[in-house]
Amino acid sequence: KNIVILISGEGSNLQALINAQKAGKIRGKICGVFSNQLNAYGLERAKQAKIPIQILEAKTQPDHIEFDLNLIQKIDSYQPDLIALAGYMRILTPTFVQHYKGKILNIHPSLLPKYPGLHTHQRVLANGDKEHGSSVHFVTEKLDGGPVILQSRISVFPDDSEKTLMERIKVQEHHIYPKVVDWFMQGRLEMRSGIAWLDGQ
Ligand code: GRF
Repeated sequence: KNIVILISGEGSNLQALINAQKAGKIRGKICGVFSNQLNAYGLERAKQAKIPIQILEAKTQPDHIEFDLNLIQKIDSYQPDLIALAGYMRILTPTFVQHYKGKILNIHPSLLPKYPGLHTHQRVLANGDKEHGSSVHFVTEKLDGGPVILQSRISVFPDDSEKTLMERIKVQEHHIYPKVVDWFMQGRLEMRSGIAWLDGQ
């Protein structure tokens, strides 16, 4: 079974998924990594792991729907069972989301439904929240609004900064994302009527 991963940057979650695959903890193969950023460090990680990479920059195709149609065409050549977004910083069009309905996962650095969108760590600090975290969820047309599958939670300390929050959250993301991807690859997880269902067996 094939997994395609979309990134835009650092790619530490991609690395966690690569490591999990190597350790036999994901029943599936990462067969392609796509980036919309030429300089994404995650591309180096993919190359190291000998995973084919493709770069699709928005400036070469400014029309968002055309961009996503092109992305779909390229992704489909890998016959993916799952599309995992791992720090992909571009909103997906409804065209894309419908094409892979129920097959797209994302990891978002907040305790959804709190703080969809950008700058989550900053907003947590500004609001004086005592807790923060990260959520793995199915992707629907609503930005960061699809059904949540698994969350990790951290305490926010008085001396925390955006950087320390991001670092602590990423450590947890690297545990929860591979776990959810493996559930999906095992066929235990599905989106049914807008709800995430996990089979207990
Ligand atoms: C993660 O914090 C993830 O929750 C968010 O973007 C960040 C990506 O980090 N969607 P990385 O590129 O995987 O290091």
